[in-house]
Amino acid sequence: MKAAEAQAEVSDYWTRRAPAFDGVASHIAQAALWRDVLAAAFEAHGVKDVVDLGTGTGACALIAASLGHRVRACDGSEGMLAVARQAAAAAGLDVAFEPALIEEASFEPGSADIVTLRNVLWTLPDPMAALRKAHLLLRRGGVVFVSDGLWSIAPQYRSTYPETLAASLPRHDGLTEDEARTMLSEAGFGAARSWQHLFPASPYPGDVPMFVLTARKG
Ligand SMILES: C[S@@+](CC[C@H](N)C(=O)[O-])C[C@H]1O[C@@H](n2cnc3c(N)ncnc32)[C@H](O)[C@@H]1O
Repeated sequence: MKAAEAQAEVSDYWTRRAPAFDGVASHIAQAALWRDVLAAAFEAHGVKDVVDLGTGTGACALIAASLGHRVRACDGSEGMLAVARQAAAAAGLDVAFEPALIEEASFEPGSADIVTLRNVLWTLPDPMAALRKAHLLLRRGGVVFVSDGLWSIAPQYRSTYPETLAASLPRHDGLTEDEARTMLSEAGFGAARSWQHLFPASPYPGDVPMFVLTARKG
């Protein structure tokens, strides 16, 4: 399956799932914990420019905005963005949402202090391209925040993508922390720091191995 075809299927899949997504989402069930972890991991003093790549229903974008930051976000699924826009409006939060694939988003290079990618790398046809985009968007000294997990080991978290689509996504089984560290380094980031220990228990019932990493652009 070609990357463009896979990407179109991924975006359609998330648009179909969008209306029910927040009903099962960890960032809603454990909202206060995710907020605390992002606040700590951002290590931000003052108001920062945050970009959330593959924002979905706005998980990281809305938390960042609630922490007082200036937030832009993109996603390839119009359906997910519609839910995100509604959630931002309901919470009175200002987020500039852009309907765009990560690789095609129009954000200016060097315009962000923090870039977030939460549970996105596993579903991308080219996850390294997304990390390189994060690097491009950041100012020198800026921070990338990446969280994901080894979704393949828990049946309740395995995607329901058709087999041909799943087979075309290099990280469809999920990622370990070590693999993510290697990818961050290959994308040009400095040493990564982990933050998942701040959760008193796994934020994903079933104890899927998950990680929260940040790394800086040197
Ligand atoms: C599992 S959801 C995670 C959403 C959100 N980041 C969160 O933490 O809840 C994956 C999201 O990535 C989006 N996505 C997949 N490929 C993308 C791409 N190339 N560019 C932008 N968004 C993409 C999907 O549309 C979906 O909203």
